[in-house]
Amino acid sequence: MLVKPTVATIVQQDVLMFLKEQPSESVDLIVTDPAYSGMNQHLLLGHGRIVGKYQEKGEGRWFEEFHDTPENYSQFLSECRRVLKQDRHLFLMFDSFSLLSLGAMVRDFFNVKNVVTWDKVNIGMGHYFRRQTEFILFASKGKRPVTRRDIPDIWKIKRLHRAQYPTQKPVELFEAMIASSKEKENDDFVVCDPFVGSGSSAVAALRQGASFIGCDISDKAVSLSRSRVEGYLQRGIDIGQEKPAFDEAMQKKFW
Ligand SMILES: C[S@@+](CC[C@H](N)C(=O)[O-])C[C@H]1O[C@@H](n2cnc3c(N)ncnc32)[C@H](O)[C@@H]1O
Repeated sequence: MLVKPTVATIVQQDVLMFLKEQPSESVDLIVTDPAYSGMNQHLLLGHGRIVGKYQEKGEGRWFEEFHDTPENYSQFLSECRRVLKQDRHLFLMFDSFSLLSLGAMVRDFFNVKNVVTWDKVNIGMGHYFRRQTEFILFASKGKRPVTRRDIPDIWKIKRLHRAQYPTQKPVELFEAMIASSKEKENDDFVVCDPFVGSGSSAVAALRQGASFIGCDISDKAVSLSRSRVEGYLQRGIDIGQEKPAFDEAMQKKFW
């Protein structure tokens, strides 16, 4: 399905099919948090403990995985490059396992500028040192400055408790990415997230005055993200996140 950006368009589709149907050089920014299979396969093979319902088969699983073989991942990156306009940015999220196994491939398609550390403030699961961080690879296609020069590469944004969707990220995390790439006055800016999940990136785009296109393979994700967008557009509220996740000092750095 060819997606024409209006305000926010979210479709249920596989990431590669979705990207292949988008016109070349049609989006201004890609922010995305892929479903990596590497970490979970590593845990299954090792002595790790799979968290939650992950071990269940079929419907009980958290969500479908994108099979991040080097072939699939390079197709994904190549499509991201084609769809992104010249002189634009990409923010790509990684867990520590995938950053080491797949992160270097991003250099074959984009100019990698930084690895931003998302500091979730509170510790989570972990077999040795408990995890408090995830990583965001910041890269460009061509040249483009960030909107401010005083933003550090560690972003302190609280993880969500009682989230409505597995791996749901705070809206503020995506807002930080968008605000550092989009000039405030630009109202013709299209953000794309082809692993949209709960829709946090879509709400972030709207809050930052951008249009949004995205997809997810899961019907639950598509229905939740569409409801969040609708709630935001009609009533100005986000039904997916009760409390803000930024601390005040961090917020001042971005806005
Ligand atoms: C890490 S989650 C994204 C979470 C999202 N950032 C949020 O804040 O809610 C990854 C998403 O990728 C989706 N997914 C998995 N395989 C996919 C595929 N082949 N095509 C598109 N989406 C896929 C999953 O359904 C899941 O919602």
